[in-house]
Amino acid sequence: MKIDVYHTPLGLNAGDLSGRAVVVIDVLRATSTIVTALAAGAKAIVPAASSEEVVRLTSNLEKNAIVLAGERRLQRIEGFNLGNSPREMTKEAVGGKTLFLATTNGTPALLAAQGGDPVLVAAALNFSAVAERARNLFNERGDLVIICAGREKQFALEDAYTAGRLIKAVKKGIPPKKLTLNDAAQVSLDLAAQQGGWQDALGASDAARQLGEAGFGDDVKFCANPDRVAIVPVYADRRIAA
Ligand code: MLT
Repeated sequence: MKIDVYHTPLGLNAGDLSGRAVVVIDVLRATSTIVTALAAGAKAIVPAASSEEVVRLTSNLEKNAIVLAGERRLQRIEGFNLGNSPREMTKEAVGGKTLFLATTNGTPALLAAQGGDPVLVAAALNFSAVAERARNLFNERGDLVIICAGREKQFALEDAYTAGRLIKAVKKGIPPKKLTLNDAAQVSLDLAAQQGGWQDALGASDAARQLGEAGFGDDVKFCANPDRVAIVPVYADRRIAA
């Protein structure tokens, strides 16, 4: 039984995901935003590679039915309704709407995960629910891929920590001899064992520092709250739905 972690989507080759169960993590903040938007009643999220793609995809759509959201350098994209803060994803802002989302690392990671079957979206906010679904898939198939969005094409502590916690939950009850972890999975597991809880681990990351400097320190605390919701977003046919 095998678990592969990618610390950024850059290492993925064509066909690597074909037919495999995949979990995508960008805990600060894109996947936390997606989970929160769906919990607040958003109909679906469409991840996009760039703000330009959002504009192109939405140019002919009824404006009342959609919300444009996303960040560049952590700040809301000019002309968009919302940024990438999960705390903006209220029922009033997104209820009943389709959210088109472009972020620096998170939405490109989701696009890179296309080909997986299924593709689940993980954050601390929905951790137990997504871990249970991933565990069931792993037990059925003996295989799981975890894609961390990373940051600017580099390793990101907060995503690797989340991946490590996920591996720990998923491998429960599997004899070590039966389990094969790639190096990135092994190191994620070690990292999760060394770091403390969610608040400390996420708070220690570069992303948390940058978010704090940009005035989004409360988002880090929000994203580090485990199990606020029990939904498992699934990405298929270019849409993420609960
Ligand atoms: C990203 O996709 O790079 C992040 O979610 C950045 C952010 O914190 O907004």
